[in-house]
Amino acid sequence: MIRRIYLLFIALFCTLCLNAQKTKQFTPGEIWNDNNGKHINAHGGGILFHKGIYYWYGEHKIAGKIGNSAQVGVSCYSSKDLYNWKDESIALKVDEDPNSDITKGCTLERPKVIYNTKTKKFVMWFHLELKGKGYYAARSGVAVSDKPEGPFTFLKSFRPNAGFWPVNVQPCHKKPVSPDVKDSYCGGKGCLSAPVDSVNLLGRDFKGGQMARDMNLFVDDDETAYHIYSSEENSTLHISKLSDDYLSCSGEYYRVFVGRYMEGATLFKCCGKYYIIASDCTGWNPNAARSAVADEIFGEWKELGNPAVGKDSELTFHSQSTYVLKVQGKNDSYIFMGDRWTPDNPIDGRYVWLPIKFENGAPKMYWQDKWSLN
Ligand code: GAL
Repeated sequence: MIRRIYLLFIALFCTLCLNAQKTKQFTPGEIWNDNNGKHINAHGGGILFHKGIYYWYGEHKIAGKIGNSAQVGVSCYSSKDLYNWKDESIALKVDEDPNSDITKGCTLERPKVIYNTKTKKFVMWFHLELKGKGYYAARSGVAVSDKPEGPFTFLKSFRPNAGFWPVNVQPCHKKPVSPDVKDSYCGGKGCLSAPVDSVNLLGRDFKGGQMARDMNLFVDDDETAYHIYSSEENSTLHISKLSDDYLSCSGEYYRVFVGRYMEGATLFKCCGKYYIIASDCTGWNPNAARSAVADEIFGEWKELGNPAVGKDSELTFHSQSTYVLKVQGKNDSYIFMGDRWTPDNPIDGRYVWLPIKFENGAPKMYWQDKWSLN
């Protein structure tokens, strides 16, 4: 009997200790340990909320510059409170087969997962660059799973919307494209010799599909899903409706923010309006974020300026947007998720999560060393 009471006491003590170790606040930019005491490894990530649990998917990075390419795959973590995350291991593994699109050493960035209530499948989309080809391929990859934590099965990679014109195409795009407009990687501001529409990258890529680099997914209230991606050598965003099973593009898409070079775009909805928070286009280096609002998902979009306010806002607090997370069970409560990239040792990259406030209809975020959902 005494032994039993003793064991019960020990068990209670251990539970209290473990609870005491639980985090109850966010500390942006600091090391963020998972249940195993390891810094969370889910960069360029996004969140799925499913049956009372949040799932955080992101790029699994390894130490050293080689970690900028995919050596392992896509990580998954789960949490009930958003502060404490359990490592669910690798949701999508890179392939050892050198002929696979997602062979080890490819570049696999910004994975996002959504759930399709009709097919009951978890669908992952990501930005894929083929191994050894720099950032030329500019493809989207799709993988699918029966369970949120995976394993996900890779299905295909492609350039979106091949053979489809955007709804807001202009006559200039349908003119023959000059052979000088080569399929070359520039991917940065200032690399095009003329304004984007006179170069006509859209026309160049009509047949083979549109370039898709930094990307996100968004599911609307009616369960229609959208893919938003940096296209046309990163100069222009496309918002593209997905097929009903979320596995393909529907061919219906719009060009938005033409020539504005937005990356890290995130799309979310609040109070019946659509919002985008995105970054400028400066590679791993942080820059001033952008924000925009629209009544309809395809626009017209109105830019609202940098949502970051205060010291270091011109660098978005040394971070780049990756996702805007709606907090469940709280009215209109949203979290900005950003990455603080460390390309020399990518595994050390940090996460900047900050609450979004709406001021005069515009999303704003202020730096906080520590904060909680209360
Ligand atoms: C950033 C982009 C990242 C990654 C990086 C490579 O602009 O947001 O996802 O692609 O460039 O330089």
